Formats: sequence, C-alpha cells, structure tokens
Amino acid sequence: MNSASLHIRHYRPEDRESLLSIKCSVFKGIVLDNERRRFQWEIDENPIKLADIPVAFVLQAGDDVAGYFAFVPYRVQIGRQIVGGCTGIDLCLLDRFRGSGASHQFIQSWMAPGFCAFPFATALGSAATHLLKAAGAESLGGRLETIAYAYFVDHVHPPWKELPAHSVTGIQEFGREYDDLWDRIREHHRLILVKDALYMNWRYRDYPFEKPTLLAARDPCGTLSGIAVVQVDREFGRVYLCELLTEPGNSPARRGLLRASVDVARSSGEKFFYYSTRDAEQVDDVLETGFEPLPGPVPTFMARVNFTPSEGPVRVQDWHTSLGDGDQLFNIGEPGKERRA
Ligand SMILES: CC(C)(COP(=O)(O)OP(=O)(O)OC[C@H]1O[C@@H](n2cnc3c(N)ncnc32)[C@H](O)[C@@H]1OP(=O)(O)O)[C@@H](O)C(=O)NCCC(=O)NCCS
Repeated sequence: MNSASLHIRHYRPEDRESLLSIKCSVFKGIVLDNERRRFQWEIDENPIKLADIPVAFVLQAGDDVAGYFAFVPYRVQIGRQIVGGCTGIDLCLLDRFRGSGASHQFIQSWMAPGFCAFPFATALGSAATHLLKAAGAESLGGRLETIAYAYFVDHVHPPWKELPAHSVTGIQEFGREYDDLWDRIREHHRLILVKDALYMNWRYRDYPFEKPTLLAARDPCGTLSGIAVVQVDREFGRVYLCELLTEPGNSPARRGLLRASVDVARSSGEKFFYYSTRDAEQVDDVLETGFEPLPGPVPTFMARVNFTPSEGPVRVQDWHTSLGDGDQLFNIGEPGKERRA
C-alpha cells in the first residue's frame, strides 16, 4: 500500500454505490439492495439535515475509494438547548488499506469539538470501541452499571396484581398530541436525543424493513400519558422494547405500556424480550412487569459532549439512552436474511 497517495475527503453524491459496494465486501452476509434502501432512509429521507456535517468521510486512494465512515444526523437536547449531533456508522476500510492510521483520523475528526455537539455511536465492536476511547469518548453500561433487562417468555411469571390504570392501544403514527407529551417529558432530561413526532415518525413509522409496533397509553380522562415502541427481530429470535417514554413518576402509564409490550412480545412467538434503561426511576416497574436484570458487560453506547449549555456542563453520564438510539437496530427485518436463532 502506498500510504502517501491516501487522503480523506467529504462524501459526494456520486460516491454512494462505491461506498455500499465496499460495505458489502467488508461486512459479510449483508445484502446490497437492503443497504441501498437503508441508506435512502438514513440519509435521503432523514428529516434532519445539518449543513456542516457531511454524509461521510471518504478515504481516497488515487482513483479508488478505500473506505469510509458515515454520519446519521440527529437533534440532541443538551441542558435545555437543542443542538446538532450525529451517530457514526459503517466504519470500514478495504483490507489492503488497513493499518494506515486512517481509522484513527476518521474517528478523531468526528469527535473533535467543532464537528458536532454530540458525536455518539451504538452497537460497537472491539475495534470501534478502541478507536473511540482513544478519541476521548466515554462508554455507558459495562460492568459498573446494569442497563440491560430481559423478559423470558418461557419463565413462570406470577400474574400481574392489578389492572393497569392507563389503557394502552396501538397507533399508526405520532401526531401533535404526542408533541405536547414530548414537550413535557423533555423538561426532565439534560441529555437526550430529540424524540418529537418528526423524529419518531421517521425512526419508527417510516423504518424501511419490518415495522415496529407503536403503543400509546392514556389516563382515565383520555389524555396521552406515554408511548412505547416494540420491534420484533425474526433473524435473531428476539424482541426489543426500543422506546418507553412517559413523564417521571407516571408509574400507571409506564406499567400499562410495559404490560402491553410484553403482550406484543408474547404474541410474536419469540422467547426473549430485551429492554435497556439507565433510568433508575423505571426499574421497579420494569422488574414488577417480569423483566430480570442481565449482568454486564453491555457497553453499547459511546459518546462525547462537545457543547456546554448556558446552565452549566452536561456529561455523557447524563444521557437518557434507549435501544432505538443510533443504528443498533437499523437492520431488523431485512428481506433475504435467514433466521439464525
Ligand atoms: C475497523 C477498521 C476500520 C480499523 O481500521 P484499520 O486500518 O484496520 O485500523 P488499524 O489496524 O490501524 O488499527 C487501529 C487501532 O485499532 C486497533 N484495533 C484494530 N482492530 C481491532 C480489534 N478488532 N479490536 C481491538 N482493537 C483493534 C489497533 O490495535 C490499532 O490500535 P492503536 O493504533 O491504538 O495501536 C478496519 O479494521 C475494518 O474495516 N474492519 C472491518 C469493519 C469493522 O469491523 N468496522 C468496525 C465496526 S464496529
């Protein structure tokens, strides 16, 4: 390899097919048509456009593209302010261009203050974890923090004690009523991806492969009190509770949603229902529903905060994570994928 001929540049629209073909040759078992569809959803159909953030960093080797690192844009609430952030995805280099230091440069440029306020990544392998740590990112979870819970459908579960006080029904999309709820929920958070209706409809209603189930809880007066999103993964035989959003202290809404989510998981025919939360306030309701803590290590979230809001510093530790954040679940239900579990 002649490393002198390598340089990193920003993505151009004509790069798309080369990038997807590199991705398919580097990550085994993925399907080009699915990659095309997902890229269209992640980038073209993403309602968030951040002018300063390129679609990807591209490693150019003479006339060839040698690898890339792509970015999905988000809005993030840090303190009380809404700023731009992005998750880094698809870090990959063709074999013959590895070992040049390009992967460190990709990650460091993305993490650098000035690129975006909140660079974050999920579902990290060991190489990416190493590279992000070297660039100053912090991990959440791991052995110090229990953030994973499982509901094993086949275990014996005692019946729930009382009927939930909030009723739960399926919905097709998120509307203005949900935005009112989101405005109340976000008051309680210092670091969270913006999950208003614009985001939720893109992330879940418009997800291009197997559609998740959207659930809404209502209090006895009929006011929306919480939402949940459940995604079934047939390929790996799992079900994920991707989102569980209520105002803090609203245990009746949360319990109603957790129980309705378990019903969705049970009726899916899969045996393993997975949830992750870093919010201690949720834990009693999660356990009461029949979930069990799963011991670490599960560091599936890494980030750096490059922005100080006017009311004072915010730390990565303040991040209210959820399984639906970032690209952790971006491949569920792709056509042509064999069942593995
Ligand atoms: C990940 C990838 C982009 C790294 O690029 P690279 O040019 O191979 O990186 P290098 O060999 O220069 O290694 C960079 C650093 O990462 C470390 N590293 C590389 N692979 C690693 C692994 N599997 N686990 C832990 N650390 C790893 C190296 O030891 C090196 O450390 P140092 O420079 O701090 O001493 C490349 O290996 C790749 O395309 N892999 C396949 C796709 C992939 O797995 N992407 C990551 C998705 S999570």
